[in-house]
Amino acid sequence: MILLIFYDNIWNLWIVKSVILLVMTLKSFLYLYYMKQLIIINGPNLNLLGKRETNIYGDLSFREFFDQVVKKFPTITLDYFQSNIEGEIINKLQEVGFLYDGIILNAAAYTHTSVGIGDAVKAISTPVIEVHISNTFSREAFRHQSFISPNAKGVILGFGLQSYELAVQSFLQE
Ligand code: DQA
Repeated sequence: MILLIFYDNIWNLWIVKSVILLVMTLKSFLYLYYMKQLIIINGPNLNLLGKRETNIYGDLSFREFFDQVVKKFPTITLDYFQSNIEGEIINKLQEVGFLYDGIILNAAAYTHTSVGIGDAVKAISTPVIEVHISNTFSREAFRHQSFISPNAKGVILGFGLQSYELAVQSFLQE
């Protein structure tokens, strides 16, 4: 009789443990499945943030800023890509543009010149938010033109690096 109860307890314990483990695994799978996957794509010269025209772009490097954003939004997967090369930006847009939940694109100077990047934004299915650190409309006239905006979900500009954060928040509120 004692032996039976003993085995019964072990059995109960084992099943409770297994159920808890199963629920936890299921929960993390569901969490990962529903976790939004976003990417920030930065164009030319944005690798120099922190050093470049600090009066306009500030003195924080993008790496430092990016690490802060990742910590601030623990419920999303946030990737980062930067290139000074137009074709590489197009390749990245094509690579993630049918998989990710959102793209935050600062094409920098290519914003004002690149039909190719504009076409890529049009071609992909992932929504793109165009961001700029500075208020491009308060600067030279050539910065008022954007090949991205017509096909972007929205445009956020002029809030410094916070423009990127606002874009993340906007994707989270969907
Ligand atoms: C910028 C604005 C562009 O006009 C400029 O060429 C940049 C940065 C911005 O984030 O404010 O490189 O995209």
